[in-house]
Amino acid sequence: MKHQLIIVLDFGGQYNQLIARRVRECGVYCEVKNGKTPISEIQKLQPKGIIFTGGPNSVNHANSPHVAKEIFDLQIPILGICYGAQLIAYTLGGKVSPCQTSEYGKTDTHYDTSSVLFGGIHLPETAPSWMSHTDYVSEVPEGFRITAHTADCPAAAFEHETKKIYAVQFHPEVNHTFAGQGMIDSFVKNVCGCTGDWSMSGYAKTAIEEIRQKVGSGKVLLALSGGVDSSVAAALLAKAVGSQLTCIFVDHGFMRKNEGDEVENAFRDSGMQFIRVNAKDQFMQKLQGVSEPESKRKIIGEEFIRVFEQEAKKLGKVDYLVQGTIYPDVIESGSGDAAVIKSHHNVGGLPDYVDFKEIIEPLRMLFKDEVRKLGTELGLSPVLVHRQPFPGPGLAIRIIGEITDQKLEMLREADFIFRQELAEAGLDREINQYFAVLTDMRSVGVMGDARTYDYTVALRAVTTTDFMTADFARIPYEVLGVVANRIVNEVPKVNRIVYDITTKPPATIEWE
Ligand code: XMP
Repeated sequence: MKHQLIIVLDFGGQYNQLIARRVRECGVYCEVKNGKTPISEIQKLQPKGIIFTGGPNSVNHANSPHVAKEIFDLQIPILGICYGAQLIAYTLGGKVSPCQTSEYGKTDTHYDTSSVLFGGIHLPETAPSWMSHTDYVSEVPEGFRITAHTADCPAAAFEHETKKIYAVQFHPEVNHTFAGQGMIDSFVKNVCGCTGDWSMSGYAKTAIEEIRQKVGSGKVLLALSGGVDSSVAAALLAKAVGSQLTCIFVDHGFMRKNEGDEVENAFRDSGMQFIRVNAKDQFMQKLQGVSEPESKRKIIGEEFIRVFEQEAKKLGKVDYLVQGTIYPDVIESGSGDAAVIKSHHNVGGLPDYVDFKEIIEPLRMLFKDEVRKLGTELGLSPVLVHRQPFPGPGLAIRIIGEITDQKLEMLREADFIFRQELAEAGLDREINQYFAVLTDMRSVGVMGDARTYDYTVALRAVTTTDFMTADFARIPYEVLGVVANRIVNEVPKVNRIVYDITTKPPATIEWE
């Protein structure tokens, strides 16, 4: 069944996928497309609405991304956000100028609730919105009316109701914008006429059918890491083509304490063909002397594929390789115009030459929370479905700088202690991701009566709903104290513990 579609045209904003997620939260399917997508291609997709994202550029610069004027003649509703709003003004004859005072962060915004975007969503006439801009719309195009303003931004929202073109200078997709989700819901339902026909049970059925059709009688190989994504992918593939499926668990040696065995135990007797490859030495060899984070990620991603090739050869002919790549990986790896922050495992590191007919990525269009919903839909155990995320390159990107056996052992122990104590304090459920990082910094300490010159371990714990933005978890000092005490006492060569209190952005969740 074809779902109603909203497309997000990406002009380089860091929040592009958050917009898509918010649309899907309304039960409406949404995809992010490059801002340069030609109009003919957009027409083929037959979207019910188009959203222009924000972006780091100024519309007044010739080299900045622009849109063809014809996009406004397609009779498809448009919502422009931040740069997208400026793009609307610029293209339709309004004026965009540099701000006298840039707005950044929560900003009191006065709304005209007679606008279809702002009415009926319990939005007071004045409420905070999230702003982040250095240009502003100084003149709206002819025929548009202003529907919101702030102290420094006279056109914080403007619209052309009959042409169904809407523009907001602020970011409704960010949680800090009061009733932002309601505004997006109003746009997709009340302006675009979407009915909310996108659901996980529907997705599962369609995905299983598509996989069956694609694979036919072919042999399928799946990369199982034991994390949420690959487990859900395995469950999906098992339902679709169970007897043709072999799951290979590449243990790269960078799993957390006991995790390799836990994964093996969970899947060993599950009915599918399960193979564990202990490839630690191979990975360590490739990573010798490498300390740059992107290089580490690329090497690990590539080595992962190589190990699969080796195993595939042993199995005879294999047609398809399945990977648990999810949508944020796809977008963050630079498929749009957003700056590449980190090349994600199995995406950025994917080599050009692969010994398989094709790679299948059944979760490629899903966000993390959707993957969990799908897992539940497929009957996976809550323990697996609600496991905290663990990056593909594992502990290798939680050791800053070069990786050694000794450092791996130190980090594994420190991380284990941190996890144990958070569970003991009953905090493991409310904190979405937590782990230890072994920094490459050493400092002076005193132990017994002797001087030490040892490593610093950083603790990272965040609360987040989408992993795109995150806050540091307010762990009680008492718990942090116990963790610090245990780590310095139980892990050799560590004499200092720090707690990471940065939010994302500007930091990321992982350190590399
Ligand atoms: P960052 O560090 O970008 O992480 O804020 C966001 C979320 O993604 C996880 N992460 C990864 N997951 N492969 C993955 O499957 C990777 O290469 C990877 N790198 C980061 C990270 O743990 C966090 O949950």
